[in-house]
Order: sequence, then C-alpha cells, then structure tokens
Amino acid sequence: MVNDFLPDDESRFTSDGNGGLHCADASFDGEQDVLLKGIFREIELYIRQTGDVADPVLNYQSAEALARIIDLNVADHGIAATEFAKLVQRYLQYSVRTGHKLFNNQLFSGFNAPAFAGDIITSLTNTSMYTFEVAPLATLIEQEMVRLMCRYVGFSQGDGIFLSGGSNANLVAMFTGRNRIAPAVKSKGVGGAPVLKAFVSEAAHYSFDTAANLLGIGSDNLVRVPSDACGRMIPGALEVAMTLALDRGEQPFFVGATGGTTLHGAFDPIDELADIAHRQGAWLHVDGSFGGSVVLSRHYRHFVQGSDRADSFGWTPHKLMNIPLICSALLVKEKGVLQRNLTDLDTDYLFHQGEQAEDLGKKSIQCGRHVDAVKLWFAWKYYGLDAYSRRIDHMMELAEYAAMLVATNPRLEILVPRQSFTVCFRYLPEAGADVNAFNLQLRDHLRKSGALMMNYGFIHEKLSLRIAITNAEMTRRDVDLLFDKLLTAAAELEDRRMQSC
Ligand SMILES: Cc1ncc(COP(=O)(O)O)c(C=O)c1O
Repeated sequence: MVNDFLPDDESRFTSDGNGGLHCADASFDGEQDVLLKGIFREIELYIRQTGDVADPVLNYQSAEALARIIDLNVADHGIAATEFAKLVQRYLQYSVRTGHKLFNNQLFSGFNAPAFAGDIITSLTNTSMYTFEVAPLATLIEQEMVRLMCRYVGFSQGDGIFLSGGSNANLVAMFTGRNRIAPAVKSKGVGGAPVLKAFVSEAAHYSFDTAANLLGIGSDNLVRVPSDACGRMIPGALEVAMTLALDRGEQPFFVGATGGTTLHGAFDPIDELADIAHRQGAWLHVDGSFGGSVVLSRHYRHFVQGSDRADSFGWTPHKLMNIPLICSALLVKEKGVLQRNLTDLDTDYLFHQGEQAEDLGKKSIQCGRHVDAVKLWFAWKYYGLDAYSRRIDHMMELAEYAAMLVATNPRLEILVPRQSFTVCFRYLPEAGADVNAFNLQLRDHLRKSGALMMNYGFIHEKLSLRIAITNAEMTRRDVDLLFDKLLTAAAELEDRRMQSC
C-alpha cells in the first residue's frame, strides 16, 4: 500500500534551501542561527507587550476566522527560517496573553522571568525525570523542592512527586488511599473489595469525580458533602455522611478537603475534618491545587491549619507561585507509600542497579516525565523564601481591595463573602434587564474586545463574575483599571440596551 505521506524521492531529506530537512547541509548552522535569532526577537517583543496594560489581553478571533488567518495545513515542503519567525509571531499574536495583568480568567497568570528561564533551559536540556542517570541534577532539585514543600506543609518525614497538575494530584492521592485500605485491589481489581466511599465538599473540583471513575471506585461512590454559604465543607455533615455509609456496610476510605475552592476560594476546616477522617480510618487529602501556596505566608497560613495532620497535600506552584504550567506536586506524609502504589514490573530495561541515588520514576505513575521542579527552584532561588511569602500576602491584600471596590459600588453586588484570592460578584443593571444574561454579555464583551478577561460560574443560580488575583506583579492601580474597564463596558451595554428598547 502506498502511504501518501511518505516522500516520493530521496532529495527531500537533504537541504531544499527552503527549510526542509537538512541532514547533509553545512548551511544548517547558519539557518538555525537565523531561526533562533528570529524566535528570540519575537519572544522579547511579546514579553514587552504583555507587560504593558495598555495593550489588549488578546486579539480575539472566532475559530473560523483563525483558521482563515493562519495556514494550519502542514505541507510537503518546509519553510525558510525567516518565514518560521513569522509563524512564531502569528502564534503569539493570536494567543491569550496570560501574563497580562488584566488576565484574571484562570487560577494561573503572570510572567515569572526566572521560572521562564527554567522552562526554556529544561526544554533545551530535554530529559525525563524517571532516572538519576538521565536527570542527575534535576533529580536532586526535585528532591530538594519536595523536602522544602513538605517542611511548609508540616510533613517532617514526608515525600512527594511532581506530576501533571492538581487533577492528577487528586487522582494519585485517592489511588494511594485506595491502596492503603484495599491493597489487594492492585492485583485483583475492585471486584472482591467492599464498596469504597470517598467524600469531598459540594464545591470540590470535578477531578475527584474523574479520579473515582478511573480508580474503579465509581463516581456514584464519591459523596458530595454539603458546604456552608462560603463554600466550606460542613464537618458535621461529613460525619453524618460517613456514618450512613458505614451503616450500609460501605467502607469510607478517603476524605478530600479543599484548600481554596475554584470559585469561592474557600478553605475547608482541615483540623476538624482530620478528627473525623482519622476516626474512621480514612485517608485525608488536602487539595491545595489553588490555595495551597498560603502555607508560604506568615499571615494566612492558618487557612490550612491542620495540614500536618493530612496524609497527602496537593500543591500546584503553577497557580499562586506564578510558575509556568505545568508545575504541581503531591506531597505525602509517609515515605514509601508512593512506591507501594506501583506493582513490581520487570523494569530492568529502565531502572538499573549501581547508582546510589534515587530514581524518581519508581514512585510515579508516569514513565517519561517532564522536568517541572527546576523552574520552581530557579524562581525560589531568585526571589528567596521571604519574597515568595510576601507575594502571597500581596495577592491576598489585592483581592481584599477588589472586594472593597465591589462592596462600595452600588452597581456591584458581592455574591459570596470574599475569603481568599477570588472575588465573586455581579453587575446590577437597570431594572428590567435579565441580570444573568447581562453579566454574561458583559463578560463576553470585555473578553472579545481584549479589555480584560475574567471567568464566571453560578452561585445558587446567580451568574457570578469571578476575579482571580493570581498575578503577584499586579498593583492596586491595575485593580482600579480593571474595575474602570468593567464599569465603562457595563455603562455602554446599558446604553445600547436602552436604545434598543
Ligand atoms: C481546587 C482545584 N483543584 C484542582 C484543580 C485542577 O488543577 P489542574 O488544572 O492543575 O489539573 C483546580 C484547577 O483550577 C482547582 O481549582
């Protein structure tokens, strides 16, 4: 069978002078030089523009328009280095500037130069975290980062692993809890095990459902425990739910507390939940994917009071520590539990005897794994422990300031009392308007005009705009600008609505 994608003559594998494959061509170095210089020029320009709040957060285009503007097709023949720089420039032109100070849409944002350096350097030295042999210094750095993070959380004998995000931290935590209560499941499957029950709050992240699904526990066996008006799990309700499960002959095995819920920014009361979870022999995990970095702050670390009593703690520096995605770790209180999760595979083709150093792949569910700890180490080294602590305080204080601006403006309404880094509110249009529809329109208008980006969710059927303060470079002036833009856009939409009535 003829494969259409195979080249039809050998000449394509030598230089075509047009950026094709250049194996035997001495001009490759020169071409690469032009290519890299062009790329670095574009990167520099992008960083400068992203730092300018007067520039838009994005150059919005619909999917159809983007597909028209950019030639997505990959052709038989490559392109020249100068053309390649234009490709990079176009990609940057139509990407959301998540480093912009008015990008408040996600729980990550900002630009962190030393961490960015870490990202490009680990790309440059391209390796995998499974063995010391291929990642010697990166292994030591990841171990050091885990030690430091464990110290902040209060796991004096702890361990951990970097993984691909908060969702996977939740998955591996539940996996570890499952294997502790029902070790036979590892080899025999869930068939012979009792019905296992996991408990998280109503406001917990959806990745817990996925974890229960993947681990054979079943998402129906993930109990959503009622939360209070602020979005915090109610300890009494957890106790009732666990007791009901026990009465039915089920096995409560996992409690997932959240340290900073996605919408409300709520922190579950870990200490109280620890009493209940441990009484029933359940694994207590803290999903600190969003808010876990508060452990760095002298002023706010009490939000996760009791973290040292948890069995595991997920902490994602790519959120509040402004490290480029992906940078996330699962920390565990007891050394050895992560290794015990894995079945003994015949892996002598990868893990060899001889080195005295630890091969981190032996405690990861991944085989190949990106080097994510080094960019954190670079940033932490550069700023130091104290400055990182202050960065967390600064973001919290800015969120408080944003909440104050909402509270003192009669056209704005707070929808949940602010607890941490998010502010949930809505604009109150003139009577007669559908408030949810108006706020959705306002949010879309701000996004598509490139003025600013913020997300939304629903709180008791009310559409809530959510400002997430996750960029430590933001100032009060930026928060003022954000509200100026929001209120100006709202007034324009109101005028338009009145005219069309
Ligand atoms: C509370 C919480 N847990 C878990 C996650 C998932 O994290 P990730 O996107 O790194 O998988 C998020 C994401 O925002 C989150 O807010």
